[in-house]
Amino acid sequence: MTIFVTGGAGFIGSEFIRQGIAAGHRIVNFDKLTYAGNLENLVSIAANPRYAQRYAMIRGDVCDAAAVSDSLPEACDAVVHFAAESHVDRSILSAEEFVRTNVLGTQVMLDIARHKHAGRFLHISTDEVGGDMEPEEWFREDSPLEPSSPYAASKTAAEHFVRAAAHTFGIDTIVTRTSNNYGPYQFPEKLLPLAISNAMEDRPIPVYGDGMQIRDWVHVADNCRALFAVLEHGKAGETYHIGGGDPKPNIEVLHLLLKIMDKPESLLTRVTDRLGHDRRYAVHFGKITAELGWHPEIPFETGLADTVQWYRDNAEWVRHCRSGEYREYYEKMYGAAV
Ligand code: NAD
Ligand code: TYD
Repeated sequence: MTIFVTGGAGFIGSEFIRQGIAAGHRIVNFDKLTYAGNLENLVSIAANPRYAQRYAMIRGDVCDAAAVSDSLPEACDAVVHFAAESHVDRSILSAEEFVRTNVLGTQVMLDIARHKHAGRFLHISTDEVGGDMEPEEWFREDSPLEPSSPYAASKTAAEHFVRAAAHTFGIDTIVTRTSNNYGPYQFPEKLLPLAISNAMEDRPIPVYGDGMQIRDWVHVADNCRALFAVLEHGKAGETYHIGGGDPKPNIEVLHLLLKIMDKPESLLTRVTDRLGHDRRYAVHFGKITAELGWHPEIPFETGLADTVQWYRDNAEWVRHCRSGEYREYYEKMYGAAV
């Protein structure tokens, strides 16, 4: 397939590209390279001459219709739309960029994909659109959407535009809603990479509020395997949930992490809770298992230990994230004029 990926320099998009190139697909990666876009995530692809015919990177904004139109290949089999502002805490500080990229950007992508007759449009959404789940409640594909953070509200609005485009124009769309991803190349602002990189340097790990908020963790490699299954075999117009199946309180996850890292629990430091903090996410993913045979393969404890090892082996990558040096990579790879 020829696949147009937006946001491919981020955490999940870069794993999707690594898997897609390994599987023989041709991929155009269209990314604005915000603070979250890191081309060092894709060195194994971009710097390998074997992939030069099948991988291209274009720097651009999903809100820029002309740039998207110019970049989207004529014979495109699928658009996979990852590009988004993705961090809840940033959306609480200021929601404007979330509305622009996540809502307007999705609408622009839908318009251009339709005008250029691109194939399937896979929209990457989140379990956070369901909002806070009661104890024992599971978020299903047909559950109501009740977002509580500005981030989740923008992702919910985006989903509505995807649904409207499918209904109005008959385009082939699929929405996936994934739980919290973890794994290599995650920017150290989200809980696990922040905790791992702080613990590596014996720095405090911030625990929001009582630490009893529950999240469901899925390894990014398992998530991307699910995305390919949906892209290739999913039914047009459907929504599929993707999860790890084992929601846990943050504090339990952090205790496990410190045990794996052999670090003291005294690193855990209670801080003021996030405003409007959702207490529990719990995504039900029986549909994708029943229809497409996908289920998560990486047990959380194994995946977490491997992720810790990856961060230890890639301390330079973390250092570049923290110092901002990763942002020079684009110019080094592609030259300032591109
Ligand atoms: P990320 O923040 O790591 O990466 C986002 C990427 O999008 C970056 O490369 C960034 O440069 C790019 N981008 C941002 N604004 C852009 C714009 N206007 N135009 C073009 N590119 C732009 O995000 P992630 O964690 O990889 O998440 C990817 C997608 O998956 C997002 O849509 C997110 O909402 C969704 N999601 C993430 C998680 C998670 O746990 N990380 C869980 C569920 C859903
Ligand atoms: P995060 O990784 O930001 O993902 P999300 O908010 O999208 O679920 O946070 C995961 C959980 O960890 C969430 O309940 C907030 C909490 N958290 C902390 O306790 N400390 C931190 O430093 C961060 C970043 C998050």
